[in-house]
Amino acid sequence: MGRKAVVKPPPPPIPPTTVAVVNRKGGCSKTSTCYHLSGAFSQMGYRVLLVDLDPQANLTQGFFGPVATEELPPQKTALAVFRDDLEPLPEKVILSTPFENISIVAGASALEDFNRSEPTKAGQLQTALRMFLAEASGSFDITLLDCPPNLQLCTWNALIAANFVLVPLQPEDFGAQGITAIQRFIDLALQTQNNQLRMLGYLVTMRQRLALHDVYETQLRTLYGSKVFTAPFPNKKDFKESVAARKPVHLYKPRAAAAKDITAIAEEIIARVPAALAQPPEFLHIENRLGVGAATNADTTSTIAEVA
Ligand SMILES: Nc1ncnc2c1ncn2[C@@H]1O[C@H](COP(=O)(O)OP(=O)(O)O)[C@@H](O)[C@H]1O
Ligand SMILES: [Mg+2]
Repeated sequence: MGRKAVVKPPPPPIPPTTVAVVNRKGGCSKTSTCYHLSGAFSQMGYRVLLVDLDPQANLTQGFFGPVATEELPPQKTALAVFRDDLEPLPEKVILSTPFENISIVAGASALEDFNRSEPTKAGQLQTALRMFLAEASGSFDITLLDCPPNLQLCTWNALIAANFVLVPLQPEDFGAQGITAIQRFIDLALQTQNNQLRMLGYLVTMRQRLALHDVYETQLRTLYGSKVFTAPFPNKKDFKESVAARKPVHLYKPRAAAAKDITAIAEEIIARVPAALAQPPEFLHIENRLGVGAATNADTTSTIAEVA
């Protein structure tokens, strides 16, 4: 008798989940969050679609390397979603990665041409990603949208196409991250284009054992309570090494503590989705919550002096 193949039972079904991963600051783990979560979710048996909306295309490079990423023809990248002269056919635009259950819409440097700074004036281009995903995301359980480090048209597309938003925050440097500008931008999407957009949570990233990090994390949890993920995304060299090896940490070192850290975040997302859906969507910025100011299109390039 041959050995029977072990067939994993399918994971518990989850409601359609499309998460925009947003922060206007670079280097706060947006891409790493998408990358490593794709590994965790795929190991759980979920089918994951990643969309790389950053002209820097770091997420795509994490799977294919910089040269192959640069050589992708436009019709096989997110450009096909935005360019008038290209037809965004899901079967062409969605690429397989070397890993089971992880697919990707690749980033491309020419996305910069579309990433304009006044996104609300972009007409039909605002809903390009939503139109594409309406057709494409049904074949996936979880779609993660990796955004560039600004609040411009690519991020705006993500907020209009998503039903959830996740904000990675380093527990330092709150000024550069501009939490209130991010909240206003999300609120504007909720008010004008996407009345189903819900906050999934703030994720504390690159967490180190530093007194400074303790102070900021405590402050964040005091201000935003249960909106802050219980599970942090700690700073560990395994995350960097696995990116260098072009494998999400679950496929690089599945038994490492780093993989368990990401599993905890993935499990918290799975638990948060139905809980968030049970509540009506709500504004995030205090002025919008209190109704003292309509969700205004904040000048997202200004440096609003704020702590949080
Ligand atoms: N938790 C972490 N531990 C160690 N290194 C990290 C972690 N998160 C991100 N990095 C590293 O920090 C850099 C910036 O992270 P990245 O995810 O690209 O940020 P963003 O997409 O917000 O610009 C990358 O080199 C990445 O490998
Ligand atoms: Mg990035």
